Order: sequence, then C-alpha cells, then structure tokens
Amino acid sequence: MKRLLILGATSDIARACAHRFAADGFSLVLAARKPDELDRDVKDLQIRYDIEVKTVPFDVLDMEQHRAFFQSLNPLPDGVLCAIGTMNGNEDAMSDPQKLKVILDTNLTGPAAILTLAAEAFRKRGSGFIIGISSVAGNRGRGTNYPYGSAKAGFTAFLSGLRNRLNKSGVQVITVLPGFVRTRMTENMDLPEKLTAEPDKVAADIFKGWKKGKSVIYTKGIWRLIMLIIQHIPEFIFKRMKL
Ligand SMILES: NC(=O)c1ccc[n+]([C@@H]2O[C@H](COP(=O)([O-])OP(=O)(O)OC[C@H]3O[C@@H](n4cnc5c(N)ncnc54)[C@H](OP(=O)(O)O)[C@@H]3O)[C@@H](O)[C@H]2O)c1
Repeated sequence: MKRLLILGATSDIARACAHRFAADGFSLVLAARKPDELDRDVKDLQIRYDIEVKTVPFDVLDMEQHRAFFQSLNPLPDGVLCAIGTMNGNEDAMSDPQKLKVILDTNLTGPAAILTLAAEAFRKRGSGFIIGISSVAGNRGRGTNYPYGSAKAGFTAFLSGLRNRLNKSGVQVITVLPGFVRTRMTENMDLPEKLTAEPDKVAADIFKGWKKGKSVIYTKGIWRLIMLIIQHIPEFIFKRMKL
C-alpha cells in the first residue's frame, strides 16, 4: 500500500492534495498543529476512498522534536508533501526581528529541517518522493512581502539543491510554485480572477507533475511566463515598482 505523509495537513491546498492522492489509492498520514481539526476530513477520506488515514500532531517550529516525530512514523512513507507556510505578521516582520524569525523558520528553516530527515531516510532506502510547496513570491524579492518571499526563495533553493544531490538516488524532489491560490492564506486579499487558482486545480497540477516525473511545477502555468518577465526587469526599474 502506498503511503503519503502530508505536513501542514489543515492547509486548503493540502486538503485538496489529500483527496487527489487518496483517489489514487494512497493511505495518508496527516500531520498538523491541531490534528483534531482534521476529524471530519479523516472520515470523509476513509468513506470516499476506502483508505487508511491517520492524524499526528506536528509543529514545524518545534525542531528539537523533528527526529522523534519522523522516527515514530512506521512504516516509513513512500512520499512526503509539505504545505506548511505562513504570511501572518509579514508586515510587522519588516521592523521586528523576532517576527521575521518566525516567518523564516515557518517557511524555510522548519520545512527544510524536517525534509532533510525525510530525504536521508528515502536516500538510504533508494526510493521516495518529496513535494515542497514554495511560491513564486520567492522568485524575486518584493517590497510588499519580502520576509515571506525571502523565506520561500530559500526554500526553493533548498529543494533545488536537494533534487540535484539526490539525482539518480531513486528519490524524486518536486518544487511547487503556485501563484495566487484562493485559500485561508489569501482570504483578505483582492485577487485577480484570471491569475488565481482554486486549491483543487493546484492539487491536480501537483498530482499530474508528480506522475510525469516533473521537477518544478508552476500553477497556474501562466506564472512561469509572468515570473520570467519579472525576473528580467532591470533592478533600477524594479526598485521603483510597487508590486
Ligand atoms: N494561497 C496562496 O496564494 C499561495 C501561493 C503560493 C504559495 N502558497 C503556499 O502554499 C502552502 C499552503 O498554503 P495555503 O494557501 O493552503 O494556506 P493555509 O490554508 O493557510 O495553509 C498553511 C498551513 O501551514 C500550517 N502551519 C503554519 N505554521 C505552522 C507550524 N508552525 N507548524 C505546522 N504547520 C504550520 C497551517 O496550520 P494551522 O492550520 O495550524 O494554522 C496550515 O496548515 C504554503 O506553503 C503557502 O506558502 C500559497
């Protein structure tokens, strides 16, 4: 039986991914800060797909517990998907180093730390897959959200390096780069309709990309072009732009 560990399982994107992988026959281990919030999801997934689903508590900021958490997973999952992230306090983090640290640790240090343990276990076994949800916000730092953006830039680079190191080890590492997605994270934002994806679309793109053995997945696909343009704007123009 195939088994997927989902970190940040209360995320709207993670919930959509849970359904997509469950429909393919995966059993699920749903890890979240507040696993009780997943009780209804568990029943729904079990009834719809006739799979095993269990929940486990996991706080990515509690890095001292990562090893014990990962070792407690028995059996070792076939794959792990990390959907953990936060933009909370992004603006305060521009003037408060403690808040900046929380953003960097939640979006970069914590996910990188737990995925390092998964990568090492998968490398030793010679099989597995790691799906990290980063963001196009990491492709270029912007004045309006650079605490979050810089953490995502680091996470994107981490996943790229991991993929490079694990090439030919039997472990697939996938970087997911969503643009705007309609979730709890963006509920107070005025999002452009045509550039905004629903969580189900993101999950479908991730699943398709995983099946095809892709390394980097932009979702919606148009964001690949948008980011290509944004990355090529000369710095002397970019610094004056309010993006
Ligand atoms: N929505 C977008 O437009 C967008 C765009 C690009 C990338 N992304 C990325 O997509 C991923 C999923 O986000 P989403 O849009 O689905 O938003 P979301 O629903 O707010 O999901 C964020 C998830 O991160 C979890 N989390 C936060 N801090 C944590 C911690 N210390 N330990 C463990 N879990 C923690 C949250 O858990 P709680 O339920 O306990 O808070 C929640 O499950 C994130 O990495 C996000 O950065 C989103």
